[in-house]
Amino acid sequence: MSNSFPRRRFLQSASAAVLLQSRKAVAAPSDRLRFAMIGVGMQGSGLLGTAIRLPNVECVGAADLYDGRHTLAKEITGNPNLLTTRRYQELLDRKDIDCIIAAVPDFWHKRVVVDACNAGKDIYCEKPMSHTASEGFEMVEAAKKNRRIVQIGSQRVSSALCAKARELYHGGAIGDVTMVELSLGRNSPNGAWQYPPPTDLSSRNLDWDTWLNDTPKIPLNPERFARWRCWKDYGTGVGGDLMVHLISGMLFTLGWNRPPRSASALGGIFRWKDGRDMPDIHAVLFDYDGIPVYVRLGLQTETPELARFMGPKGILDATGSELRHSPQNGVDTSPSYYSGSFPAQMRQEYIRQWHADHPASTGPEPVSQDPTYRGEDWDDLHPHLWNFFQAVRTRKPVAEDAVFGNHAAIACHMANESYFRKKAVFWDQASRSIKS
Ligand SMILES: NC(=O)c1ccc[n+]([C@@H]2O[C@H](COP(=O)([O-])OP(=O)(O)OC[C@H]3O[C@@H](n4cnc5c(N)ncnc54)[C@H](O)[C@@H]3O)[C@@H](O)[C@H]2O)c1
Repeated sequence: MSNSFPRRRFLQSASAAVLLQSRKAVAAPSDRLRFAMIGVGMQGSGLLGTAIRLPNVECVGAADLYDGRHTLAKEITGNPNLLTTRRYQELLDRKDIDCIIAAVPDFWHKRVVVDACNAGKDIYCEKPMSHTASEGFEMVEAAKKNRRIVQIGSQRVSSALCAKARELYHGGAIGDVTMVELSLGRNSPNGAWQYPPPTDLSSRNLDWDTWLNDTPKIPLNPERFARWRCWKDYGTGVGGDLMVHLISGMLFTLGWNRPPRSASALGGIFRWKDGRDMPDIHAVLFDYDGIPVYVRLGLQTETPELARFMGPKGILDATGSELRHSPQNGVDTSPSYYSGSFPAQMRQEYIRQWHADHPASTGPEPVSQDPTYRGEDWDDLHPHLWNFFQAVRTRKPVAEDAVFGNHAAIACHMANESYFRKKAVFWDQASRSIKS
């Protein structure tokens, strides 16, 4: 494992400390927010550990279907008496809980968000917002009807680097965008979601029947419990796992908030033949109102995360923790090489005229620069959680509401539908559905 993870952890602690100090100056005791977790697995444990380090925020309960995660929640909060339960509804029914953070598998998002909104709770729900396109609209409706704050967890929309990308783009850094490329590759069993299941899983400590939600009933399967991303019954593949982050960052940077018009995907299960049904290679071409957005995701070869925005005035490249602006002036600096195909006299006349039209500069040679901006992390969790808690306090809009989260998720569903149907798919706004 590279040493970047511990460094990131250190930076996260440092940033939490800064937030803590800045918050101390303004917070009144009445601002204290009491939240509960639903789902304390891989992501939920990270969210919990981050949230409790934020000022004036307190975890008062945790729900999970696996009892091992009750123990984990108590360990993370340092509170052996933390209220824990298998039934999240118990937490939603409590009047002393202000809001919820949910990190359950994708196929549970809709039910948890709709239940939370109907119970009058604000909720931070992990990405991708939905498991299917139609679910997303039910969630948007539940938030609207109950006037609830819903923040979706593609955290990069709250990162300073993403805000810088947005500022540069809207300041005209590359002109009007004409094409976008998004890519990310992994090359390891962990990267391909072959996670080790908890070693003690049994019907005594896991409510497997409930975990299955409305999917086909099967006997307790530890691999499905830990590696649910591999199957479309539970997850949304590399689309919902990885692409949704890149799409969310792109929508935010460009100021777009809509689904694509169409998606055309290719892919397959090339390497991880472990019984999964989601592709491990997924290449997608989206049409965003005429602008091509090409997305390449793979679990075969490690390639750096990259969001590349291209326009007539240059390129904006956003990598994991860096943003580079490479301006281009888009002009010829010499006569056209096409003139090599002219007879000599014609070529000489063309070149003479070209130089007459483009007099040589008499000053020093031009100096160019490609400014680079570095952030702590393009995918920043602290500010995204903080943005949610502040919205709960102030009732001001969140960075990534249900409408935005829905649009980002629809792109992933279209990518998956195109892959499974083996044909291009289109977004039909009238019926709010994906058509072939
Ligand atoms: N934003 C990010 O960077 C990021 C990173 C990883 C995962 N995620 C998202 O977080 C979510 C969870 O992923 P994970 O890797 O933590 O999964 P996980 O399987 O490790 O954890 C999910 C937990 O939810 C529990 N659970 C399932 N249904 C439940 C229910 N009805 N009530 C209570 N508990 C329930 C499970 O028992 C499990 O402990 C997914 O939607 C995933 O896409 C986001």
